Amino acid sequence: MARRSQIWLLRMFLLVLLVTLAPPAIPAIRSSQSLALLHARDQCGRELTSAQRLHLDRMQFEDAPHVRHYLHCFWSRLQLWQNASGFQAQRIVQSFGGERRLNVEQALPVINGCNAKTKSRGSGSGLGLGSQAAVDWCFRAFVCVLKTPVGEWYKRHMSDVINGNA
Ligand SMILES: *[C@@H]1O[C@H](CO)[C@@H](O)[C@H](O)[C@H]1NC(C)=O
Repeated sequence: MARRSQIWLLRMFLLVLLVTLAPPAIPAIRSSQSLALLHARDQCGRELTSAQRLHLDRMQFEDAPHVRHYLHCFWSRLQLWQNASGFQAQRIVQSFGGERRLNVEQALPVINGCNAKTKSRGSGSGLGLGSQAAVDWCFRAFVCVLKTPVGEWYKRHMSDVINGNA
């Protein structure tokens, strides 16, 4: 009798052990694009405080140097921003799923329009964009897009990616 209850105890112990050691639920399969977004976010957020990262994750982009640098880093790393020509509208639309996911007819002119509208009106040096100028232009163009339906779409999508829903 004592033997039997010992075996029973052992079984229970093993069961508890199994449950405890079981791997966590497998997260939803991420698209490679979502992974690229998350990777860029991690890489570019390395030097930020957790409070700063939290703000960015909540799609709060206040005008501050760290935000400007983060955004420039993020979009450059994704190869969706180029210092000389700004946001790569066509690439952005494609990489975010094209016509399946967003209104391309709306997105292309919005992005190109924001590039043009926010580009610095001549630095005067004749040497092209200084390094800070590229970072600042990227921020202005991004803020411009954020004010449009394309920006609303982006914020929703990026939140979904961060929260594991996309
Ligand atoms: C783009 O601008 C950033 C920030 O000014 C600079 O660090 C980077 O080297 C530039 N990239 C290219 C390809 O010129």
